[in-house]
Amino acid sequence: MTDIAGSSPVSEMFTADFRRDPYPTYARLRESGAACPVTAPHGFPAYVVTRYEDARAALADPRLSKDMYGAWEAYVAIFGDSSVHLDDNMINSDGAKHTRLRRLVNLAFTPRRVEALRPRVQAITDELLDRIAPGVPVDLMAAFGFPLPITVICELLGVPEADRADVQRWSATVAHTGFDEESTRAQQEAEGKLHEFLVDLIARKRAERGDDLLGSLVSARDDDRLDERELVSSAWLLLFAGHETTGNLIGNSVFHLLQRPDRLAELRARPELLPQAVEELLRFDGPAENATFRYATEELRIGDQVIPRGALVQIAIAAANRDPARFPDPDTVDFGRNNSGHLGFGHGAHYCLGASLARMEAQIALATLFARFPGIQLAVPPEQVPWLGVEIPAFRGLAELPVLPA
Ligand code: HEM
Repeated sequence: MTDIAGSSPVSEMFTADFRRDPYPTYARLRESGAACPVTAPHGFPAYVVTRYEDARAALADPRLSKDMYGAWEAYVAIFGDSSVHLDDNMINSDGAKHTRLRRLVNLAFTPRRVEALRPRVQAITDELLDRIAPGVPVDLMAAFGFPLPITVICELLGVPEADRADVQRWSATVAHTGFDEESTRAQQEAEGKLHEFLVDLIARKRAERGDDLLGSLVSARDDDRLDERELVSSAWLLLFAGHETTGNLIGNSVFHLLQRPDRLAELRARPELLPQAVEELLRFDGPAENATFRYATEELRIGDQVIPRGALVQIAIAAANRDPARFPDPDTVDFGRNNSGHLGFGHGAHYCLGASLARMEAQIALATLFARFPGIQLAVPPEQVPWLGVEIPAFRGLAELPVLPA
């Protein structure tokens, strides 16, 4: 990214160093102003919001629209026009359309419905950890972090086991926001494959009349409560949002806990702290570094900064969650702190639909992993553990997590 205003931390934002540790840059951005103007590689002016109160207000501000059709030019420049077949869902809509699409799946994700999945999530966790051999170094992301949420969301939606590896590969390619021709082509191809796969899967669900989540969306489609593109796009959103984020939360949490034996010991001694520990790890280094696509439908102010009509607004959740004005001593992992109101799952109408599921998966994953492998360690020094690079700006997570299970 280049800086509109001259030299400032903004110029650091598109580097591998920033991806490894964005927090010092975010601290300087928070100091420098309420909303920092940048020009991102796609060429559209954008404003980065880093302070907690501004970020929380912006997430719920109806003047900041998420309707992709309303900012079509910017949307296509950033995501390409091939993704529209997959993106016509709740996260890219406002108002009545957003409510309609969210309501169709909301019931499947209430805390009570999610709680009923607990035994199955525990069983999948146990099966995955059974396959990890003690004493043999392993990439925990590939062996555990991603397979757990992928299996859970695929079972919930009704994606057959034989197709899951393909779905995971295509999703990972879509997550790579390449800015060169080759990665754009790979991304478009993966989107095409995913679209084809989902259309075919929906046809099968229609024939089977199954009672999984996709089956119920197909019935809603047939009752005219959503159109075909919205149906495919909703399935894709649940599939994608349901695994990339949770996998990275598990990875980031294990990575930080392994470097903090005192916190891990605290957790072992007082297992009742687990829910609070997961919230703190979400605040400290959660997977949603930024909120999704938003733009100003009218001129507005964020702090002392005027945001022109049509400009993109990037809400840096990771920066807001480390704002010392809201969370004292924010760079410390403290299970005893009051971290209520952290923005790790967003805020307002688009607050994460899968928050209860993600919390449960992360709690089960951490408790079971550390009980099963009490002597687990990083297999390489922490500074050698690779973070996702500049080509995956949407998520904060590890490319690999080499550990020695024991
Ligand atoms: C640790 C894991 C997760 C994190 C950190 C996370 C984070 C978020 C955030 C920050 C948002 C709001 C985005 C915005 O306002 O721009 C969001 C929305 C959403 N999340 Fe999650 N998420 C996680 C897991 C899940 C899971 C397991 C699902 C399950 C299906 C899910 C489904 C969704 C959906 C459908 C939305 C859009 C809601 C709407 O537009 O009304 N997420 N998530």
